[in-house]
Amino acid sequence: MRFVSTFALGALVALAWCRPSARQTAGKPVFAHYMIGGITAEHTHQDVVDAKAMGMDAFAMNINIFADWSTGTVDSLFTAADELGFGLFFSFDMSPGYFNDPSQYASQLQSYLSRPSYYKYNNKALVSTFGGESVPDSSWAALKATVGDVLIVPGFDQATPSANFFDGRPSLDGMLNWNSWPTQQQGIVPVSDADDITYMSAAHSASKIFLMGISPLQYKHMDSVNNWYRRGESNLEVRLPQVLAMQPDMLEIQTWNDAGEAHYVGNIWPEPMSGSPAIIAYTEAYNHTGYKNILAPFIHAWKTGATTTAGMVPTNGLPVQGTFWHHTLLTTSDCSSDPLGKPGGVENVEDVVSGVALVAAGQTDLILVVNSGTTELGKVSLTPGYNAFKVGGLVPGKVTVQVWKGSVMVGGGSGGIEVAASAALCNYNFQVVGFPS
Ligand SMILES: *[C@@H]1O[C@H](CO)[C@@H](O)[C@H](O)[C@H]1NC(C)=O
Repeated sequence: MRFVSTFALGALVALAWCRPSARQTAGKPVFAHYMIGGITAEHTHQDVVDAKAMGMDAFAMNINIFADWSTGTVDSLFTAADELGFGLFFSFDMSPGYFNDPSQYASQLQSYLSRPSYYKYNNKALVSTFGGESVPDSSWAALKATVGDVLIVPGFDQATPSANFFDGRPSLDGMLNWNSWPTQQQGIVPVSDADDITYMSAAHSASKIFLMGISPLQYKHMDSVNNWYRRGESNLEVRLPQVLAMQPDMLEIQTWNDAGEAHYVGNIWPEPMSGSPAIIAYTEAYNHTGYKNILAPFIHAWKTGATTTAGMVPTNGLPVQGTFWHHTLLTTSDCSSDPLGKPGGVENVEDVVSGVALVAAGQTDLILVVNSGTTELGKVSLTPGYNAFKVGGLVPGKVTVQVWKGSVMVGGGSGGIEVAASAALCNYNFQVVGFPS
């Protein structure tokens, strides 16, 4: 950069002095957590195309081992990202059983830092994690001494929020609070931003970065140990306005493709799941790409500085655009032939249809009608902009959402899977329907 006048230089210095430097020039990035599995080059390319089309900046690549299948996927992501102009950074998996010290990945990290698409924030390469709460600060300092001055923003799910969170952690440059869902013990409550506010305030008072998570639900049904539910009810449609009001430094959508935890918003490809029939069983027919109908306008709002959802409108030129989601089993449904049984936390499931309808400016008198089978569950009056809805009383049958203007249907949709009173599998994944599809 070349300064053309001392006045400009003075203005920049003043700006740098009064704000954390990390937030001056780096925009408002949006990432998606991306599970590195053995994924074909064609499919990694499609993932980059689709994430870029949604307005995302980078994938946070969750890697838990260096093996031919994992580095092969990383390499094809870099090829696609270099070609298409997209970002990539590592999120090293430091949960128990995987990496436990940054020295285990320093040299591999270094070998990718020179790639044009390695994501940088304020000219520093970003490095994240899942877990690693007990890594001592000296180990993070050692990583920087080895690979250079990278930005270390780990994702923690086991940490305790506090105002002085960064005391004793000078080598961290920020953090991501991984918990975007209530705990099972919290019961039937909406997603909270209380911990995020605590972490963000701690980060900003230490001139560090707060990376905020957004996630539609968490449902895992793999084996007797991994069988739980964390609420997707009153979550995504509540979280989007929370995030805009809070204005964290960065966002991470959890996740692009974690099929096992059911919080994927992107493509889930068959090849990394071929050895996991349990995951295939609860995800195969549950395509979540319909979330993009609300996530793309949300990302646009976030990037243009919106602090509320009021300006979120259809991007397709139609009167209404949206997404709805629901479980395909009721809380009372019988799935007793499933040896795993219902997931832990199933008591927090609600028999509801939830969603967001975005309505174009000037569109009045639109009514959204939710049906389950032949039963009308409810009607919602829509107004221009962002309309979050949650309609209860779900009963077995095919769920349909229709938006009417008088006697003319102007939008809506339905999913392929009917809500069932009994099933062989205790599947509490969401059916996600974008409208128009
Ligand atoms: C998911 O749905 C989208 C939109 O209908 C479609 O383009 C995509 O191919 C589907 N993915 C799978 C794996 O069926």
